[in-house]
Amino acid sequence: MTTPALSVHGIEKSYKDLHVLRGVDFEVERGSIFALLGSNGAGKTTMVRILSTLLRADAGTATVQGIDVAANPVGVRERISLTGQFAAVDEILTGRENLVLVAKLRHLPDAGAVADRLLARFRLTDAGGRKVGTYSGGMRRRLDIAMSLVGDPEVIYLDEPTTGLDPESRIEVWDVVKDLAGSGTTVLLTTQYLDEAEQLADRIAILHEGRIIANDTLAGLKRLLPAAKVEYVEKQPTLEEIFLTLIGPSSGKEKAA
Ligand SMILES: Nc1ncnc2c1ncn2[C@@H]1O[C@H](COP(=O)(O)OP(=O)(O)OP(=O)(O)O)[C@@H](O)[C@H]1O
Ligand SMILES: [Mg+2]
Repeated sequence: MTTPALSVHGIEKSYKDLHVLRGVDFEVERGSIFALLGSNGAGKTTMVRILSTLLRADAGTATVQGIDVAANPVGVRERISLTGQFAAVDEILTGRENLVLVAKLRHLPDAGAVADRLLARFRLTDAGGRKVGTYSGGMRRRLDIAMSLVGDPEVIYLDEPTTGLDPESRIEVWDVVKDLAGSGTTVLLTTQYLDEAEQLADRIAILHEGRIIANDTLAGLKRLLPAAKVEYVEKQPTLEEIFLTLIGPSSGKEKAA
């Protein structure tokens, strides 16, 4: 048995009086896609920031590839990359120049070759010489993820990778994420989109009121709710129905407000 890519135990975090994480526990197997699902303000970004060493937890332990985030943040940073909710690409530069810049910042030999390989992998070779300002949302996102892969991190965090994208661009990003896991990278994905978790994740964890209230495969989560019988047709619960049932009736109102 290898150590899990991510191991999170009893993590707590407060912002002044606001107790956001109240004892979060989960593990992520190497090479898998793990989705952290939760409503606005559930603490998804807070959890990702702790795992990225950008924020210190008040209690609990978290390791990345067996390395403790608090004891050895530098070791953790060497193994991860983070793609935040807002694309970090430079609009004035071309796609290729953005990639070369990151490769140089990471002191990689032959930054140009690294950039070209990533452009090809993300189907951006033709657009590589164009300024990013002319890219579609999906192309920017793909470039953003490509930039986070410079240097081959073992674990990648994608914080809401498709928020604000149109359906077509979302599918493009999904394909990229599937490829990533296929090549052995561990992916922790946060999302509010239930279909995204359904499409991508090997396991789905629901973060609610500071704790993980469910953590299972999609099939396992579906078993939590009985299938509703409608005449002779068996209707499977959607992940959305499971999610809303598990987090209870009050949360829906908060989200609408
Ligand atoms: N630096 C901060 N100072 C004070 N409160 C904060 C800070 N960062 C986050 N919070 C609060 O902590 C809670 C969790 O925030 P967080 O960003 O982790 O949630 P999230 O699940 O990522 O939400 P979203 O889906 O909107 O991105 C929210 O109530 C937020 O307002
Ligand atoms: Mg967030």
